[in-house]
Amino acid sequence: MNIEKNLIAGVVGWPISHSLSPRLHNYWLKKYNIRGEYLAFAVRPENLREFIESPPKDNIIGFNLTVPHKEIILPLLDEIDSVAEQIGAVNTVIIRDGRLLGFNTDGYGFLTHLKQSIPTWSAKDGAAVIIGAGGAARAAIVSLLNEGITEIRLINRTKERAEKLADIYHDPRIKVWDWQDRSESLFEAGLLVNTTTLGMTGQPELSINLSPLPATAVVYDIVYNPLETALLQQAKQKKYLWVDGLGMLLHQAAPAFQSWFKQKVTVDQKLRRHVLEGLSG
Ligand code: ATR
Repeated sequence: MNIEKNLIAGVVGWPISHSLSPRLHNYWLKKYNIRGEYLAFAVRPENLREFIESPPKDNIIGFNLTVPHKEIILPLLDEIDSVAEQIGAVNTVIIRDGRLLGFNTDGYGFLTHLKQSIPTWSAKDGAAVIIGAGGAARAAIVSLLNEGITEIRLINRTKERAEKLADIYHDPRIKVWDWQDRSESLFEAGLLVNTTTLGMTGQPELSINLSPLPATAVVYDIVYNPLETALLQQAKQKKYLWVDGLGMLLHQAAPAFQSWFKQKVTVDQKLRRHVLEGLSG
């Protein structure tokens, strides 16, 4: 008798217990009645190659990567999609005919959440001020450049890191500003994005004065724990349009799920509430 095995996907990280991805993907598996499972794989960086060469499940169809694997996976893959190449990191692997194909859906998640939350926002509205120069900043930069943003003002506590990014992308639209000028950098901007860990539970808040930001601009904090950071509180109080970080997490998951399980999914309020419960629980 041929008993078909469940399709397996999962998230690979170290540590992994905090990840909301299993909650998110298993919600869709249940909702769409799919014979599959989404697991959490705790894999130390030094064991990543071994994980890939002999995965713990033979019916694995792909996996997500989180800290600290998104960059170190690159040389271990058979193919890397051009957007992932641009971002310099992979968050989604699809296994096809035994070959490992790497993608990055973080920039897609970032931009899709922005456009769905603020349909009036346009890349032509003015400069985007990006705070931070880590992996999340790279995903935001690449998606905004590809969307046709007119200017990016890049600001990081460690300026050399921002300069290094500007060198990598080598695009005249990217201008590096000094950390101490972050409030001034907001003049005539259409979008402010915090991609740093500032504002996360246990971290200091991002100290910035939003007053120079035009009234029509959008404030986007990719931090989602807590959902309402001090930055977003200030944005709400000053009546700016604002976007929280949870939607980016939800939207980056959709294309990965769709490729693995061949099922179109929606990101809606019910899913958001379900994932939020995991955050507070
Ligand atoms: P990720 O890949 O998730 O974006 P990361 O590479 O660790 O994470 O980057 C974290 C970002 O938060 C960096 O831009 C970091 O600034 P530095 O490059 O100067 O380290 C920023 N960050 C973290 N703590 C900070 C703090 N206390 N003040 C200012 N920036 C901070």
